[in-house]
Parts: sequence; C-alpha cells; structure tokens
Amino acid sequence: MGKVKPIAIALLFASLGGAGECAERCAMPEAPPKEKAKTMAELAARYDSSSCKDCHEEIYNQWEKSLHARSILGTPRTAPTIITAIDKGIKNFECSGVTDDKDLEVRHLMMCAKCHLPQLDEATDDVAREIVATIRAWMKEEDDAKSEALRKKIESVNIGCMVCHNKKAIIHKWSDGYPQPDTVYGAQAGAHDSPEFPKMAKAPAISETIFCGQCHGLGPNFELDQPSQCATLYGSYLYAYIPEGGSETCQECHMHKSGLGHDMEAYRSEVMRKMSLDVDVESQALFWRKNKAEGVIPQGIVHVNILNKTGHVVPDG
Ligand code: HEC
Ligand code: HEC
Ligand code: HEC
Ligand code: HEC
Ligand code: HEC
Repeated sequence: MGKVKPIAIALLFASLGGAGECAERCAMPEAPPKEKAKTMAELAARYDSSSCKDCHEEIYNQWEKSLHARSILGTPRTAPTIITAIDKGIKNFECSGVTDDKDLEVRHLMMCAKCHLPQLDEATDDVAREIVATIRAWMKEEDDAKSEALRKKIESVNIGCMVCHNKKAIIHKWSDGYPQPDTVYGAQAGAHDSPEFPKMAKAPAISETIFCGQCHGLGPNFELDQPSQCATLYGSYLYAYIPEGGSETCQECHMHKSGLGHDMEAYRSEVMRKMSLDVDVESQALFWRKNKAEGVIPQGIVHVNILNKTGHVVPDG
C-alpha cells in the first residue's frame, strides 16, 4: 500500500493546482449581490451602452436600430401589451395579490421582463411601478414633446450591450464561471481597453444558438409562478429546423449572412425578407361551359408553393 501513496499525493496536488486556477475564475461563485437600483434612471445607468459607442461605434449604431435597443417599448406594441397583461391578467387573477398598480412587484413584471428586461431582477419594486406608471403616462400623453420624453425614458431601459456581453453571456455558470462586474464577455480573453470594464473574458456559448434561445422562447415559462408564453421561436428551431437537417446558427443568419451585424432584424428589413421565403405561384384561367341555363363559368387553378428558408416558424408568436 505504501507504494501507492506518492501517486495519490501527486494527484492531490494536481487537483489543487486546478482548483487554484478555478478559484480566480470563480472568485465570486454567485453573481455578486448588487445593490438594487431604486429608480429607472439608476437601472438605465447600470446598463448604459453609450460609453461603448466611443470605441465600438459601428456596432453601437447597428444595435441602436434593433428592437433590442427598445425591448420594453417594442414596435411600439410591447409597452401597451404589458399594460393589457396587468389590467386584464394580473389584476384579475385572484391570488396575484395585485388589485392596484401600487401592489405591483418586480416578480409580477418578470412575467414579461424575464426576456424583455432581464436586469429588472436587480431593481426594487418601486422601479417596476415606475416603469408601469411611465408607460401609462406615455399612452395618455398628447403633447408631442412630452410624449417623446416619456418614450425616451421607456427606451432607456433595454437589452443593451452589457445585458448580452455580461448578464446573459454565460449560460453554464458552474463550468464557465459567473459573470464578473468588471468584465466584458465575448470571443477573447485579456485586457479590455475600457476604464469601466478593464477585463475581457470568453463567453463559450455567445456564438451558439443557445445564447439567443435564453430569450427567444421554448414555450410556457414554467419557472414562473404564473407561466406566460410569448416567443416560442427557439423551440421551433430545436424541434423542427434541426430535425429537418438545418445546421445554421441564429448568429450566422441574423448577424453574418444578413450583413446586419448587431441590427438583428426580421421582415421589416429588405434583406431579411429576401432571405425568408421562396414563393412560387402558378395559375391558370379557364372557362367551363356548364349547361345552357348556367352558361359559361370562369374558373381558376392556382398552385402555391411556399418554402420557409429561415431556421424557425414564420411568423413567431
Ligand atoms: C476605450 C475603448 C473601448 C471602450 C470604451 C469599450 N471597448 Fe470593448 N473593446 C475595445 C478594444 C480595443 C477591444 C479589442 C478588440 C480586439 O482585440 O479585437 C474590445 C473588445 C471588446 C469585446 C470582445 C470582442 C470579441 O472579440 O468577442 C467585447 C464583447 C467588448 N469590447 C464590449 C464592450 C462593451 C459592452 C463596452 C461598453 C460597456 C466596451 N466594449 C467599451 C475597446 C473599447
Ligand atoms: C436578453 C434577451 C434576448 C437575447 C439574449 C436575445 N434577444 Fe432577440 N429579442 C429579445 C426581445 C425581448 C425582442 C423583442 C423586443 C420587442 O419588440 O418588444 C427581441 C427581438 C429580436 C429580433 C427582432 C424581431 C422582430 O420582430 O423584428 C430578432 C431578429 C432577434 N431578437 C434576434 C436575436 C438573436 C439572433 C439573438 C442572439 C444573437 C438574440 N435575439 C438574443 C430578447 C433577446
Ligand atoms: C420567453 C421570453 C419572453 C417572455 C417571457 C415574454 N416575451 Fe414578449 N417577446 C419575446 C421575444 C424574443 C419577442 C420578439 C421576437 C418574436 O416575436 O419572436 C417578443 C415579442 C413581443 C411582442 C411583439 C413585439 C413588437 O415590438 O411588436 C409583444 C407585444 C410582446 N412580446 C409582449 C410581451 C408581454 C406583454 C409579455 C408578458 C406578459 C411578454 N412579451 C413575455 C420574448 C418574451
Ligand atoms: C442581443 C445580444 C447582443 C447585444 C445587445 C449586443 N451584442 Fe455584441 N455580440 C453578440 C453576439 C452573439 C456576438 C458574437 C457574434 C458572432 O458569433 O460572430 C457579439 C459580438 C460582439 C463583438 C465582437 C465581434 C465584432 O462584431 O466585432 C463586440 C466588440 C461586441 N459584440 C460589442 C457590442 C457592443 C458595444 C454592444 C452594444 C452597442 C453589443 N455588442 C450589443 C450579442 C450582442
Ligand atoms: C437559416 C437562417 C436563419 C436561422 C438559422 C435563424 N433565423 Fe431568424 N429569421 C431568418 C429570416 C430570413 C427571417 C425573416 C423572416 C421574418 O421576419 O418572418 C427571420 C426572422 C426572425 C424573427 C422574427 C420572427 C417573426 O415573428 O417575424 C426572429 C425573432 C428571429 N428570426 C430570431 C432568430 C433566432 C433567435 C434564431 C436562432 C434560434 C434564428 N432566428 C435562426 C433567418 C434565420
């Protein structure tokens, strides 16, 4: 038995060495407890993308055009739909604890914010109520200048650079570590030329479909006390496109082949419309001489073939 010991010790040291490296990567095993943002302005400042513009101008300009940059406002159909979900849903559910806007908490809004504003979990319930009050004020406002200011305030909280390159960047946190507050996550590791975020680290899955799948939906959100369902497009990618032999990622189609980069778009963009469907229509016009009484009846035969070239259902929802 004595002969085995040195090997066992060597193994122990080897694993300690590994643990040392890991200790650095996992310095904060849980996402560090951040002080809750108390206002929309504080939450917006924490995830403000404008400082990135100085050095990543083209990406910033692309992102600014995308719906990610207005993920609560939407087209602008999202903000009013959140209000409908509150007035016609949450307030009518007997056990939600909400009969008035003042009863709203972050957990109620998470039904939508899980994907439309995931960083809301770093804010107080006051912020949830402020968002709702701001949307209501914007929906009522008739003065153009005031309405514009309210719209800007709604847009100030969004899926900005650091939502993707920090908060949602790491999917497998036990194996890849928890996102650290001083780091931007992408394809490379090293020093980052920004005073606010001096480090770069690898987000192993950021170029994979699963990264977008975090918000683009599988089906009902069962982890919520009251499951909601909105986007289900990632589900159709996994269960229809892949089994049919599809092999491209979201990023390949939406960021690279489209040439749109961070302006991830759908049919509102000409280039996406062209990539979307092949529609082939053949038609033939005939006349049918039926009988003397009814005479000649016009008839048409139309063959329509639609080939969906995207990686998922069209449209989603
Ligand atoms: C002072 C300039 C500067 C600022 C400000 C800055 N960056 Fe960078 N960033 C760089 C440079 C330079 C690189 C490295 C480019 C390279 O080596 O390819 C980089 C790299 C990155 C990468 C890694 C890219 C990859 O290869 O995957 C990400 C992600 C990133 N920045 C995000 C951000 C975000 C988000 C912000 C705003 C919070 C920001 N940066 C602000 C200069 C800056
Ligand atoms: C943090 C959550 C989140 C992540 C991560 C995310 N998205 Fe989105 N995305 C959204 C939300 C929410 C919207 C809709 C905003 C709205 O209109 O209300 C959206 C909108 C879009 C749209 C526009 C849809 C339209 O109707 O015009 C496209 C395209 C898109 N995302 C692609 C992607 C791709 C590709 C990725 C991965 C590289 C990705 N998204 C990652 C949440 C996310
Ligand atoms: C699982 C993530 C997820 C949840 C939860 C979610 N959404 Fe969405 N929602 C999305 C994504 C992603 C899109 C855009 C892409 C699409 O339509 O496929 C979207 C699109 C929308 C749109 C159309 C966008 C537009 O700009 O016209 C509306 C409206 C909307 N969501 C409202 C809501 C409301 C209200 C809730 C809460 C009751 C909610 N969503 C919950 C992910 C989600
Ligand atoms: C919806 C999620 C999302 C948002 C928001 C987002 N990014 Fe990215 N970013 C990605 C993904 C995904 C990639 C990797 C694309 C690939 O696979 O090639 C990427 C790549 C990058 C890269 C390296 C590759 C390149 O194109 O140079 C930089 C730098 C970067 N992002 C900076 C930013 C900045 C700055 C912002 C804000 C203006 C931003 N990103 C917003 C998802 C996002
Ligand atoms: C093979 C290329 C391809 C792949 C892979 C792909 N998409 Fe798309 N996607 C498209 C095209 C083209 C459109 C435009 C058609 C449209 O808007 O309806 C589109 C539309 C969308 C829309 C708008 C849907 C709607 O209701 O109109 C969203 C959101 C989206 N894609 C997100 C994603 C995400 C997230 C992934 C990965 C899970 C992905 N796409 C994978 C090509 C692709």
